[in-house]
Amino acid sequence: MIVDPLDEYPIRDYPRNAIRLDLNESPIPPPREVLEEMARELERVNRYPEARLILEARRALAEYSGVDPGMVALTGGGDYGILTLLALFKGRWGRIIVPAYTYSMTPHLARALGMKVSTVPMVEGEWWGIDEDRLFKEARIGGAIFIDSPNNPTGSRLLPARRLVELAEEARGPVVVDEAYYDFEGDSIAGYTESHPNLISLRTLSKAFSLAGMRVGYIIAEESVTRTLRAVAPFPVSRPGLAAVKVLASNPGHVRGLVGMVKAERERLKAAMRGLGLRVYNSRTNFLLVDTPLERPYKVLEEMGVYVKRVPIRETMMRATVGAPRDNDALLSALAKVLS
Ligand SMILES: Cc1ncc(COP(=O)(O)O)c(C=O)c1O
Repeated sequence: MIVDPLDEYPIRDYPRNAIRLDLNESPIPPPREVLEEMARELERVNRYPEARLILEARRALAEYSGVDPGMVALTGGGDYGILTLLALFKGRWGRIIVPAYTYSMTPHLARALGMKVSTVPMVEGEWWGIDEDRLFKEARIGGAIFIDSPNNPTGSRLLPARRLVELAEEARGPVVVDEAYYDFEGDSIAGYTESHPNLISLRTLSKAFSLAGMRVGYIIAEESVTRTLRAVAPFPVSRPGLAAVKVLASNPGHVRGLVGMVKAERERLKAAMRGLGLRVYNSRTNFLLVDTPLERPYKVLEEMGVYVKRVPIRETMMRATVGAPRDNDALLSALAKVLS
């Protein structure tokens, strides 16, 4: 064998009319004008993207994020951003340091590259936290820290941005803050990356930008980092993807509208599930972590056509994406039925 075997990510099919609350996607596609702009670029897919097209997308994201366009590197979704950073770190930092429960692809990709994975215990509560002393201790020893904040699957911000900056100041290696759910949260380390070259913000357009199927992400970091990222991946995003980024990031009305709807629905869903007697943790994201009296609630709900995600914390738990109001109603009535 010339490569090590690895388990594949479980990509699935869904029956018609399935209620899809398992992958933290946006329940609605981007608006028509974005789809039209993408279609225009489809007519030119025989050509690699020109510098202008790439720069316009980077500029729009830089403006959306309040940073200089030089500090932005595009990636083929968050996953490729993670993979690229890991590949660049591997030679110098043989290990990564992650929260005990985190986005599963991060430790999976690190192991695939032959890196060691160290985990930091988390603290269960209405808002989940992390063992800060342990995290700072590991940071001083060395390694590449990948911390998703807000965290998947708990939904909480593990540390405020200011504390993550202090972590970068004390760390011997890079500190990557996976801000996949930044748009729902607002608190970000992006503004500190210029003055802290080991601090990196990693983001995706798969959530609040409704572009999961396009595979677009970006990284904000000091220019020496983003220049290297652009050097190893000059064309990470397709022409339609670049067009979508430009229109959505420069007119963030769609994103703001979606975020507003999701947050209102999240609080409604949380209150209603608590009303059913479930333990629902607080969240700053587009999903909720829920503990139930059921064994494998994701299996029980799947039989009723409602798809939520298994979480590796306890078999009684599930992670439910906040969907459109009718999706959330379907989840609530399925839960009411099984719990009665
Ligand atoms: C914390 C976190 N990081 C990264 C990603 C990957 O996103 P993408 O779709 O851009 O690969 C996800 C997706 O669920 C996520 O939850």
